[in-house]
Amino acid sequence: MFYTPENRDHDLLPHDPLKAIIAPRPIGWISSLNMDGVANLAPYSFFNAIGSNPPLLMFSSEGHKDSSRNAMEMREFVFNYVGQAVEAEMNASSVPAPAGVSEFDHCGIERAQSEIVSPPRVARAAAALECKTTEIIEPVDINGNKASVVLVLGQVVGVHINENFIQEGRFDVNIAKPVSRLGYLDFGHTSEIHELPRPRWQE
Ligand SMILES: Cc1cc2nc3c(=O)[nH]c(=O)nc-3n(C[C@H](O)[C@H](O)[C@H](O)COP(=O)(O)O)c2cc1C
Repeated sequence: MFYTPENRDHDLLPHDPLKAIIAPRPIGWISSLNMDGVANLAPYSFFNAIGSNPPLLMFSSEGHKDSSRNAMEMREFVFNYVGQAVEAEMNASSVPAPAGVSEFDHCGIERAQSEIVSPPRVARAAAALECKTTEIIEPVDINGNKASVVLVLGQVVGVHINENFIQEGRFDVNIAKPVSRLGYLDFGHTSEIHELPRPRWQE
C-alpha cells in the first residue's frame, strides 16, 4: 500500500503508524529547572545523540512543554538513562503536571545533585549526561509554516555512570537493560545483543 500522510485509511490504520515504523527509539528522560527552581522531569522519545565530537544530543517537543521551555530559558538540562529498573517511574513522570509541580516529588523519584549544571538528575539512573543548551530550532513544513515542534539541542558537559553498570571497560547494556519506545503504547526491552564487524573496502 501507499498513502500520503494526510490520506491514511483510518479503517485499516486507525492510528498513525509513523512511531511504530521509526522504532525502537531511545528515551531521553529529561530533567530541567524552571526559573523558580522547580525541578522538572519528563520522557522524550523523539530523542537521540546527533554527534560525538563534541558530544551533542537533541530532544523534540510537540509544542513547547515544560522541558523545552526550561532548556530554552535556563540553557541547561540533564539526560537520564532509562533502564528497566526505572521504567515505571519514567512512565509516571510523563504525567502532564502543571509547571509549578515537580514530577520528582509527585512521582517519588529520588534526585541526585549534578556536578556542572543546576538541574538535578535521577539518582537511580544507570547514567546521566549533563547538558548545556546549544540551540533551539523551530522546524518548518514544506510550505515554510512552523511545524509546532521545538527541537532542543544540547552539548554534553558532564557524564555520570553508576560503576555497577561497567563491566570489562564497557557500559554494559546487559546490566543496564535499556528501555526503548516503540509505537502506540508499546515499549521494548533489549533481549539479544550481537556484534557485526564493519565491512572493509578490499583494494
Ligand atoms: C516514553 C514516552 C516518550 C515521550 N516522548 C515525547 C516526545 O518525544 N515529544 C513530546 O512532545 N512528548 C513526548 N512524551 C510526552 C511527554 O513526556 C509529556 O507530554 C510530558 O507531560 C511533558 O512534560 P513536561 O511538560 O514536564 O516537559 C512522551 C511520553 C512518554 C511516556
